[in-house]
Order: sequence, then structure tokens, then C-alpha cells
Amino acid sequence: MTIATVILAAGQGKRMKSKRAKVLHPIAGRPMILYSVETARQLPSDRIIVVVAHQAEAVKSVLEARPVEIVHQGRLLGTGHAVLQTQPALADFKGPVLILNGDVPLIAVETLQSMLKLHRDQGADLTLLTATFPNPEGYGRVIRDPDGDPIAVIEEADATPVQRGVREVNTGFYLVNAPFLFEVLKELKSDNAQKEYYLTDIIGAAVRTGRKLCTVSARDTDEVTGINSRADLALIEKAIARRIAGRHMREGVTLLDPETTWIEADVTIGRDTVIYPGVRIEGASRIGEDCVIHSHTRISNCRLGTGVTVRDSCVLAESVIEDGAAVGPFAHLRSGTVLHKGARVGNFVETKKTELGEGSKANHLTYLGDAVIGKEVNIGAGTITCNYDGLNKHRTVIEDDVFVGSDTQFVAPVRIGRGAVIGAGSTITKDVPPDSLAISRVPQEIKKDWAKRKKKVKGKR
Ligand code: UD1
Ligand code: CA
Repeated sequence: MTIATVILAAGQGKRMKSKRAKVLHPIAGRPMILYSVETARQLPSDRIIVVVAHQAEAVKSVLEARPVEIVHQGRLLGTGHAVLQTQPALADFKGPVLILNGDVPLIAVETLQSMLKLHRDQGADLTLLTATFPNPEGYGRVIRDPDGDPIAVIEEADATPVQRGVREVNTGFYLVNAPFLFEVLKELKSDNAQKEYYLTDIIGAAVRTGRKLCTVSARDTDEVTGINSRADLALIEKAIARRIAGRHMREGVTLLDPETTWIEADVTIGRDTVIYPGVRIEGASRIGEDCVIHSHTRISNCRLGTGVTVRDSCVLAESVIEDGAAVGPFAHLRSGTVLHKGARVGNFVETKKTELGEGSKANHLTYLGDAVIGKEVNIGAGTITCNYDGLNKHRTVIEDDVFVGSDTQFVAPVRIGRGAVIGAGSTITKDVPPDSLAISRVPQEIKKDWAKRKKKVKGKR
């Protein structure tokens, strides 16, 4: 017998004080809602239904490629009301419904599996996952009778001071047999502090109607921590970062300080790569084996080959860096940069939509934009591609084995033929044929004793 899963994601998340719906806030680069969805996909769940309302279109677009059904909650009248909206979709479903809050991303599949096992073994109508928090603030409290049997969940806003003292809380994970669930949801009342239809009232209702109610306690509190505020978000972000770091270290990556290394959820890193403190790697970045990434560098959606070195304080975005290439310190590779094998980009160099060929170097103080540069080219210090004329962007093409002297400007569009040499200090406005020298600076003059005479006039000597 399989289960159906309902994920609640309709709320705004008022306590976040955000323009963005809570479940869309990214954690380790992935929208919060995807954590619940990905966990649900690992369970024997035929159907995953996500309840949406606030910023529904944006939430739906995040879920687009996932095998989920969407149910709209017309008005936000509470968690009980949200689940009731799935009744038409689940009309023919008679098995257990797993209900998850979309703001509790760290729940482990194993925990839900053990809940499911207990639910089946005990023949329960309702199984609730609880946890004991040192500080239970904000959660619904699990109220038990003197025998220790659960009798109700009371929301904090409705709790008496004694009930608030209870540290066992409702984690927001439930397994409820569908017929009982929808029967009881229709009976819910909103006569409480928040004037909402509380899903949690089904616990009291199960007790009153003599249903079989089980509880399971989660061991790890991180796993069931809900995100209601920015402080909760930071806490969970850190917890996820630790898990991701642990996974990479187990797979053979050296993180010199995992506490200050931030690797987003979808990043892959090859073995024996060494990452220094304070590095952040984002998006769909793919880092090869034997790379070294030094401190204070941010890498976003890049592909690094084998044995790439990134020195301190670089920003790399949407770029490809092939085997053995080296970048930095203090380099900025912008979108569309390709460094071919063994190429080097050094201090204070910015690149954009630029290809630097095998073994080529741009080591100091340079801007390369919309340029295609061949193999074994030396770009001298202070070289600038003048790629923008105020209206359009133009290309600079530099063929293999060109030597560009320092302080050169290429006024694009311009092409430099294979093996040519550009004299230092040149402004290149016309194409340069292969193997020739181009030099455009003003010839140097010497005026002998000029300085001496000038000083005499001023009475200095
Ligand atoms: C809820 C529980 C509380 C539990 C806690 C665990 C209720 C009444 N309370 O409180 O007992 O300790 O979770 O984290 O259920 N949502 C909807 N539609 C709505 C309202 C909420 O889909 O009308 C969604 C939200 O988007 C969110 C989830 O339900 O993903 C939980 O809502 P939230 O307001 O965060 O409930 P809590 O106050 O945390
Ligand atoms: Ca919550």
C-alpha cells in the first residue's frame, strides 16, 4: 500500500517580513520547497500534492520539472483548511496521507520511513511526529494525560502558561488515514486565538472519537526545525552547509575550514581538490579533481577542469576554466569567459565573453571583453580591449603566438594576425597582418640639457 503526500506551501510567512513567499527563500541555493519535495520523492508515495496560494505562480514555476500535483487554497484560512483543499484530488484514495509543512526542509527520509512503519505495524489512524526542544517557542505543544497518552496539540497562542511549559512539540509531520482525515477536517472550527482552521485539532478529534493515535519522537532537532523567521533561516542554512561540507569531505575533497566554506546544494567537486577558508561555490558549478581554490573566492555556475588553481579573492561567474589553468589573485571572470588548458589570468584582470587560448597569459591589470585570443599569446600588463563604442559591442580577435606589449588598447573591431608583435603603449585601430610589428605610439624625443636649463631659469640651481 502506498501513501499520498501533501505538502503545505500556501502561506506567506509573515514572520519573515519578506516580499518573497517563505517557501521560495533559497537554502544553499535551492528554494526551500524543493527540500520537502525531494524528500517526498524518496518515499513510496504515488502522489505528491503541493498546496499553494501566496505567490502561487512563482511557487509553481519552481516545481515545474517535478512530478507533483498542485492544489490551490483560495483563502489562507489555516493549515487544516489547506489540507481540506486536497479532498477532491484524493477522493478515491483510501490509504494513509503523509502531511508535511513546506517550511521544515531538513527532515530525513529515514525518520518518515520509521513513522510509516509504526503507523502500519500499529494499525494507527493517525501518527504524529513530535520532538522535544530546549526552547519550544513558536511550536504547538503536545499535551498528554497522566498516563502519558497524547490528548491534544495546543498552539502557543492558545496555550495556558502551564501548557507553554511543555517542551514536547508538534513537528508538523503527520500520517493520517484518508477517510478519517477528511471526515474530521470538515468538522474543524476556527474558534481560536488566530481564527484559523488548525490541522492540529485533528489530534484532539482522534482522541475524542476513539481513533488509534501514535506518536514518534524525532531524535535530531535540526531535522524538524521549522523556518518561521530569518534567524531560523540562518540556522538551517548553516546546518545544511555542514551536511554538504561533510558529504564532500567523505567523497575526498579537502576543506581546510568547513565552517567558513559555503558550498551550495547542487555543486559537484572532484577528489583531492583543496578548498581554503572563506570560499563560496554556488549554483550548478562543477569543480574537477586536484584543483586548489584559495580564500575569499566566489565561484558561481562555473566549470573547472582538473588541476585548476584559483588564487585568493577572485570572483568567477558563468565561466569555463580548463585543465591546469590558473586565475588570480584578485581576478574577475565574468559570464562567457573560457580559459583553455594552461591559460593564466592574473592580478586585477577582468574578462567578459572572452576566450583565452591554450597556454596564453594575461597576468596584470587588464580588461578583455568580447575577445577571442588564440594559443600562446602574451597579453602585456595594462592591455585593454575597447569593445564598446557607446552603442554597440565589438570583437577583438588575436590569433596564435601574438605578443602584446604593455599598455596597449585594441579599439574593436580589430584583428591581430598570427605571430604579430604589438609595441608597448600602442593604440591599435586597424587590423595587423600576421608576423608584423604594429606600433602606434608617438616616437620618443630627447632634448638634451632641457631640464637643466629649465631649473636654471627658476633659480633652483
Ligand atoms: C505549525 C503547527 C504547529 C507546529 C509547527 C511545526 C498548525 C496550526 N500549527 O505551526 O503546531 O508546531 O507548524 O513547524 O498547523 N500553510 C498553508 N495554508 C495556510 C496556513 C499555512 O499552506 O492557510 C502552510 C505554510 O505555508 C507552511 C505550513 O503550512 O508551510 C505551516 O504554517 P505556519 O504558519 O508556518 O505554521 P506554524 O505556526 O509554524
Ligand atoms: Ca512554520
